[in-house]
Amino acid sequence: MNSKKTSSLKLQRLSKRKPLSFVDPKTPTHVAVKKEIKEFSSRKKDHLLITLSESSQNPRGHSLDQVRLNHRAFPELNWQDISIKAKFLKTELSAPFFVSSMTAGSVHGRAINLLLAELSQEKRILMGVGSQRRELFDNEARKEWKELRKQCPKALLLSNIGLSQLIKTPVIKIFELCESLESLALIIHVNPLQECIQKEGTPYFSGGLSALKQLVKQSPIPVIVKEVGNGFSREDREQLAGTGIYALDLAGKGGTDWSRVEALRFDPLSYERNSGLLFTDWGYSLVDMLFEMLQEKVPYQVWGSGGIRNGLDVAKVVALGCELVGLAQPWLKSIFSHSPHEMKLKTRLDLETSRKSLREFYEGLEKELKTAMFCTGSANLAQLKKGKIKWEGPYV
Ligand SMILES: Cc1cc2nc3c(=O)[nH]c(=O)nc-3n(C[C@H](O)[C@H](O)[C@H](O)COP(=O)(O)O)c2cc1C
Repeated sequence: MNSKKTSSLKLQRLSKRKPLSFVDPKTPTHVAVKKEIKEFSSRKKDHLLITLSESSQNPRGHSLDQVRLNHRAFPELNWQDISIKAKFLKTELSAPFFVSSMTAGSVHGRAINLLLAELSQEKRILMGVGSQRRELFDNEARKEWKELRKQCPKALLLSNIGLSQLIKTPVIKIFELCESLESLALIIHVNPLQECIQKEGTPYFSGGLSALKQLVKQSPIPVIVKEVGNGFSREDREQLAGTGIYALDLAGKGGTDWSRVEALRFDPLSYERNSGLLFTDWGYSLVDMLFEMLQEKVPYQVWGSGGIRNGLDVAKVVALGCELVGLAQPWLKSIFSHSPHEMKLKTRLDLETSRKSLREFYEGLEKELKTAMFCTGSANLAQLKKGKIKWEGPYV
């Protein structure tokens, strides 16, 4: 039997495995699905509204503030000599920064994803879409993604699903998510803290590493693992070395703080809100992880994200050794920057204005990254990585 036939049979067998249900099994299926869709949309609306507000951000600052790049008064370069081009597999990217996965959910969801996909297509940067979990039980979601792909056939999209869904879903279903999006790679997000605090959370991670290994073994596209802003410990990084993943996005603390986001969805006087807020600033910072990793050899690419807010941050993260650098909340902020906060989710998005501010934000990132490269005498990203950091404070 040829190998193609064997793998297709394997996939058929896997697809017959019954997925665990998300809700009480006694609830009739159509009611359960309706409930799931309603909850999903309402949660995504909350996320959008809360992440746009300052209270969702880690109030304790960012570790990158302690990192300085080595200024050169004689850079021996001209501005036009600087290239910020990067690569993902065989695809040339115009910049090392990307749109980190975001579910825009129901309100404004399609418009936001369209604007970001247009940017990805036009500028040639990667875009991680938000969790495709809804597509596992709602065909409408699949249609939405297919429509997006039709509108932006050249967008560089990465699929996304959470580890807790991966564990209970046949891999064939996971691959279908990538098919409908025609994605270049699949991102698995791990978010144990968020799942514990979230009202509708699913903190079920047992068997996660073996599910990930199985997925990588069978996946026709590269698999990337990311956190959502709490980072990875040394033990996690070591365990991931045995899974065959293509890249690890460290996603450290210091930016959007998901324990705060979920806490703020509860009543102000509830114990749930207090318990959630207690975990503000939990986890590892990007700089701590990257500093530790100077001594580690890992068999996957290392990407950085979590609290990256401008092109200087991007330069620092590249100089610290990351291949690509992700930003999430700042893209959203720029899309909504033209409307006062209270109006943000009530009015229709003015696509033209949002498009313009998104492009301005992109241009700003490019300018800031190039400035940092010029002033460190780095003509390209490989040069920026070589000894451009000036360690200060606790890291020396
Ligand atoms: C509105 C919103 C929705 C998000 N949804 C997802 C998601 O569905 N899947 C995921 O992996 N990460 C999701 N994230 C997390 C981001 O990808 C990122 O890891 C985190 O917000 C930290 O980056 P930041 O500080 O730049 O926002 C979301 C972020 C935002 C702001």
